[in-house]
Formats: sequence, C-alpha cells, structure tokens
Amino acid sequence: MDLNLESTVRLNNGVDMPRLGMGVWRSDNATASQSVRWALKHGYKAIDTAKQYGNEAGVGDGLAQGLAENDLNRSDVFLTTKIFNGDAGYESTITAFEDQLARLKTRYIDLVLIHWPVTGKYNETWRALEDLYMAGKIRAIGVSNFDIQRLRDLMKHASIKPVINQMEFNPLEQETDIKDYCDRHNIQLEAWSPLGHGDALNNEQIKQIADKYNKSTAQVIIRWELQRGINTIPKSTHEEFIKENADVYDFALSDEDMELINSLNLDKRSIWYGDFQWSGNPDGVADSVDQWDK
Ligand SMILES: NC(=O)c1ccc[n+]([C@@H]2O[C@H](COP(=O)([O-])OP(=O)(O)OC[C@H]3O[C@@H](n4cnc5c(N)ncnc54)[C@H](OP(=O)(O)O)[C@@H]3O)[C@@H](O)[C@H]2O)c1
Repeated sequence: MDLNLESTVRLNNGVDMPRLGMGVWRSDNATASQSVRWALKHGYKAIDTAKQYGNEAGVGDGLAQGLAENDLNRSDVFLTTKIFNGDAGYESTITAFEDQLARLKTRYIDLVLIHWPVTGKYNETWRALEDLYMAGKIRAIGVSNFDIQRLRDLMKHASIKPVINQMEFNPLEQETDIKDYCDRHNIQLEAWSPLGHGDALNNEQIKQIADKYNKSTAQVIIRWELQRGINTIPKSTHEEFIKENADVYDFALSDEDMELINSLNLDKRSIWYGDFQWSGNPDGVADSVDQWDK
C-alpha cells in the first residue's frame, strides 16, 4: 500500500483530507499551541480540535506560528473543529461558529463536525452547518459519535450528506456495524482515541507484532488504521511521540498481522451515550468542560 504523510482521502464532496492528523484533547492552550507547532514541523498536514477542549485559541496560535516557521500556507493544513454540545441548535451554532473562527484565527475551517448527537437538536445544528458550508466558511461538514440510527435520521432530514463520522476506534473497539454502514454510504470513518486509552498500547500481541517490524506499538496501531482505510488523529504533547506517530510509512503490515489485530476487537466503547442529552451549564460557555451524560 503506497501511503505517505501527504496521503489524502477524497471525501464525498470532492475535498481531499489528509489520512493522518494530530488531536489535541486534554491539552491547555499553551500545550496545544506547542504541540501544533511540533506537528507542523514534523510534516503533519491536519489538526483536530473542538470548542469543548477549551484550546481553540492555543491551536490558532500554534497554527499561525507553525505556518510561519515552516513556510506553509493556511491551505497546506487541514483544520477540524467541532460544534459544542451546549451550542446545539440553529442560531446558537451560527453564533458560536463565528467565535470559533476568531479563536482559531482563520477565515474558514476545513471540516466542522457535530461533536455529539444531542437529542432533539442535531438536525437543527446540521441545518446551520449546511448554511455555513454553502456560504463558503466551511469546506466540509460531518458528524462525530453518530450511531446508525442517528446517521439515518440525520440523512432523512439533511440536504447535504456528512463527509465524516468520527468515532472511537482502535484495535479493541472497531465499531464494525458503523464502519460497514459508513462504507456503504461513502462516509469516511475517522478514529478518535486511536491508540486505545493505554489498553491497546500495552497489548502483548500488538507488542509482538511491533517487535517484528522494529516499530513501536503506537506506530503499528496507526499503520493498522491507515491500512484499514480509516483516518486517524493520535494525540501527543511530546515532540518525540508526535514525530514517532508520523513515522509509519517505511513498513507495511502483512495481511496476516492485519487479521491478527482485527481479531482483537472487543466492541467495548469507553463511554456510552444512549439517549444523549446535553446537561451543560446555563451560560452555554463551558469551553473548558468535558461533560456528557451517561
Ligand atoms: N469526537 C470525539 O468525541 C473525540 C473524543 C476523544 C478524542 N477525540 C479526538 O481524537 C484525538 C485522539 O484521541 P485521544 O487524545 O483520546 O487519545 P489517543 O490519541 O488514542 O492517545 C493519546 C495518549 O497516548 C499517548 N501517546 C501518544 N503517542 C504515543 C506514543 N507514540 N507512545 C506512547 N504513548 C503515546 C499520549 O501521551 P502524551 O499526550 O503524554 O504525549 C496520550 O496520553 C483527541 O486528541 C481528539 O482530537 C475526539
């Protein structure tokens, strides 16, 4: 499989998205800024943040500095952010989005996702994203944490199909049904927590495969995701890990090793979100708060 750090996938609206990016969840502004600069230094072409992470301003700073330091243009980097649960709804999404643009110090966003499917509101949030997309402020729109039932409902109401569904995905959680559904509907699956909360990184079978290729377990997991055709956004706050996670293009996993990792699936999400309700604070500005109901 001929892959490199510049490899992209063509989304269903014709936009090309890098296959590998870096996430910044659980980083404060200063840390996120530094991580983004390191990512750009080491050749990453995509960054994933969210209003909920409370670090859009840091990502915006890191992006501006990283572009200048590496002689890059804004169009060289694919930037993803997400609509905060507390902003779900039409008007609130439109208003919040303008603030997100300002924090990220950019005139447009490459990809905006509905972060979580807030019950009773996600179709209105989607309508706002469709309008922002049609206005040219967003290059592609998608969803995150949508199961099949919610994807079906969204598409019944939508004029524009989502390009991406960003889901928890790693060797221990492979979302088989959702992946099949997305494949059938030409919706690209993107992996969040691609390294699997430590459990996958410490898995003995993956370690053995990694030793065979003289690679780290993280590199084997990332390579497995890329070979599975999934976009992936491993997060790190350490330059060495950021570099290591992008050094996955000088080897290819054999069919046998791919199968072995495929067989580790436990179908066990780390969080469950049945009837997802947002119960955030009344101001709707809980920028730095990560909350969801059980
Ligand atoms: N849409 C959603 O609901 C949602 C939910 C969760 C995450 N996400 C996105 O997905 C991104 C990735 O997920 P995640 O942050 O949950 O987890 P992850 O990328 O699976 O794992 C991150 C953890 O692994 C460590 N790590 C990174 N590279 C490593 C390496 N080469 N060797 C050993 N350890 C390594 C990091 O350490 P250090 O940071 O200490 O370097 C960090 O503790 C997030 O940052 C966010 O952008 C989206």
